[in-house]
Amino acid sequence: MNVLDIIAKKRDAQKMNREEIDYLVIGFSKGRIPDYQMAAWLMAVYLNGMDAEETAWLTQSMLVSGDRLRLDSLPGRKIDKHSTGGVGDKVSLILAPLVATMGVTVPMISGRSLGHSGGTLDKLEAIAGFSTQLSVEQLFAQLEELGVCMIGQTEELVPADKKIYALRDATATIGSIPLITASILSKKLAEDLDGLVLDIKTGHGAFMQNRDAATALAHSLVTTAKANGLNTTAIVTDMDQPLGLAIGNWLETREAIQTLQGEGPRDLLLVTLHLGAHMLRLAGLLPEIEAGVGVLKQKIDSGAAFDRFKRLVKAQGGDCRLLDNPGLYPQSRYEIPIFAQESGHLAELNARTLGQAVVRLGGGREFLEDAIDYKAGIVLDKKIGDRIQKGDRLAQLYSDRPSVHDVAVELQSVFRIASQAVEPPPLIIEEITNH
Ligand code: URA
Repeated sequence: MNVLDIIAKKRDAQKMNREEIDYLVIGFSKGRIPDYQMAAWLMAVYLNGMDAEETAWLTQSMLVSGDRLRLDSLPGRKIDKHSTGGVGDKVSLILAPLVATMGVTVPMISGRSLGHSGGTLDKLEAIAGFSTQLSVEQLFAQLEELGVCMIGQTEELVPADKKIYALRDATATIGSIPLITASILSKKLAEDLDGLVLDIKTGHGAFMQNRDAATALAHSLVTTAKANGLNTTAIVTDMDQPLGLAIGNWLETREAIQTLQGEGPRDLLLVTLHLGAHMLRLAGLLPEIEAGVGVLKQKIDSGAAFDRFKRLVKAQGGDCRLLDNPGLYPQSRYEIPIFAQESGHLAELNARTLGQAVVRLGGGREFLEDAIDYKAGIVLDKKIGDRIQKGDRLAQLYSDRPSVHDVAVELQSVFRIASQAVEPPPLIIEEITNH
């Protein structure tokens, strides 16, 4: 097989066959095919796309580039949730232990924050001592005992994705639906799951800002998952404004704790319960979503979900004292409020701008190697649709950086206030399933 012929084929918008895709992906991940040839092929895919069959083959080729977990010896159905990411999205911290209380095994593998978008691993590591790297033995022992683990991607699982993603990042080829599909699903298939729930965010703060693009990605993901034998439901949810009130690692972890204690914001709870109910349906436990929502809410109200989270934190080395007493956490040097300068109704709250502001406060990273100030971030007092009186506090900024004052001034215009009443945007926009 000849690499030039393969590149030329995609350049000319022809369909590739399985052997050609394997040759390219395995050759690149083993270092036999250089970056410049892979980059040319990725750009050809970006411009000319791939059909469903090619996308499924690409996913398979990436999957077999590394090891796969073998979880069949563990009890319960293995179900995970993956979010395409957004601002204030701390759902995983609540959802994984919550669903595990129902006897579902949740082997959750998550990522880190980058740019305006947050990452579950950083939120967990905001808890002193919490380790997101477990040995295979620890992982099995913990899944057997607690039914849940929350860890980062390992070097052994899907090494092709790490290499290809880095090249896509450097060649403006991230935003391609078949490439995103294969990247997400190869990693999820490596977890040996019985079912997967995908939270596809759309709006200002989402990876897929455009609603039609989010729907197209959802369809591509469920179709490709089906072709690879994985029952999957994709839910398109709103990310025009942040989810919940807190943005920034520790602030979000604290809000997740409050939600597990039954005191979280309504939107965060609603999305979490909805995704959880779909996980229960995929596990074959409760076919009705409303029933799943009700049972999961009881697990929060009874304290079972918070208890499971505590046990998870303890098992992974985290300081559990912070869970019962979040006030022990170090305080930021500056706590700067933003006040409303007029009365009315909050009409817009751009999640992307707020996420970027958190990076400037020290709470996020522009590059993966940047350090993070876990305490930094923003807590909102108002969400879209809320009534505002002039002088009301709209948000509080937390940072050790004196530049927090400039950020506060710049953020004033993010809170767009309208004179007429505003409906909050719908949270759950669309559901697409393959089973
Ligand atoms: N998340 C991934 O894991 N891969 C992509 O390509 C995009 C988002």
